[in-house]
Amino acid sequence: MPRTTAPDIAAAKGKRKIAMLAAYDYTSARLAEAAGLDVLLVGDSLAMVVLGHDDTLSVTMDEMLHHVRAVAKGAQTALVVADMPFLSYQVSVEAAVANAGRFLKEGRAGAVKLEGGRAIVPQVRAMVAAGIPVLGHVGLTPQHVATLGGFKVQSKTAEAAATLLDDALALAEAGCFAIVLECIPAPVGAAVTRAVSVPTIGIGAGPDCDGQVLVFHDVLGLYDRLRPRFVKQFAALGEQAVSALTGYVEAVRSSDFPGPEHSFSMDPQAQASFAALIDRTDDALDATPAKP
Ligand code: KIV
Repeated sequence: MPRTTAPDIAAAKGKRKIAMLAAYDYTSARLAEAAGLDVLLVGDSLAMVVLGHDDTLSVTMDEMLHHVRAVAKGAQTALVVADMPFLSYQVSVEAAVANAGRFLKEGRAGAVKLEGGRAIVPQVRAMVAAGIPVLGHVGLTPQHVATLGGFKVQSKTAEAAATLLDDALALAEAGCFAIVLECIPAPVGAAVTRAVSVPTIGIGAGPDCDGQVLVFHDVLGLYDRLRPRFVKQFAALGEQAVSALTGYVEAVRSSDFPGPEHSFSMDPQAQASFAALIDRTDDALDATPAKP
C-alpha cells in the first residue's frame, strides 16, 4: 500500500472518517500501522507521557526529532506528522521554516503540526510555500498552558467560539491540510467542521469532526497521571503490564525463570575441559603463598 500523504488526508473530508493516533516510538508505530491508523502524530505530549514532565513546554527539537525518526521507521503507510515543540516556530518565520524542514529532512516526517490560530498564519504560509504540509491545532493548545491557566475546555462562550471559528478559517485559507480541534464543546466542533474546507480532527471536540485523535497510552490504558473526560480507554494494558511484571519479579526471585528452554547448552566435551581448567586454576590459587 502506498504511504498516505497530506493531500490524501485533505481529500478524505466528507468521504470517510480519519483515524489518527499520537505515538512516540518504533514499536508503537508498528502496532498502530497493523491496526490501520491513517495518521501517526509524534505529539509533543511525549514530554508528559514518555518523559514524565508536567506539561509539554520543555521538550526540545532534538528530543522530538529522536522520536520522529523512530516512528517514521515503524510506519510504512501512515502519514507521520511531527509536532513542533514550544518556541520552535513562534519566534520568527525563518526559524519556523528551518525547524519544520528538519522534521521532513532528518526525521522523515510527512508533515508538521503547529498550535495557534491567526497569530501563526505567516509561519503556515511560509512552510506551505517551502513544500512542508502543515496540520493546524486550535482550541486547547497545551503550549499556552501558562496563559490559559491550565488544561481547560475552550470556546465555551459565543464570542470565544466565533474567535475559534475565525482562527480555523484563517488556517485553512493559509494552506493547512487539516486542523486539530482540542477540548471544545461538541456544537463548536460541529460548526467549525461544517465551515472549514479541510478536515477537522477532534480530541474532545465531539462526534461531528472529520476524524479523531487520541494518545497511544490513553487508548491502551497505560497512562494514569491525567485522565481527561474525552479519553476512552479501549484496553487496560497498564494493569496487565503490572501483573506481567509482578510475575517476572516472582519468577526471578523463586528461580523459576529462566528455565532450561531459556538457557543455552554446551558441548559435553567442552564442558568437561572447562571444568578441568577451573579445577587447575583453583589448585594453582590454593598453592599460591598468602601475602604477609
Ligand atoms: O501532542 C499531542 O499529542 C497532541 C494531540 C493530542 C493532538 O497535540
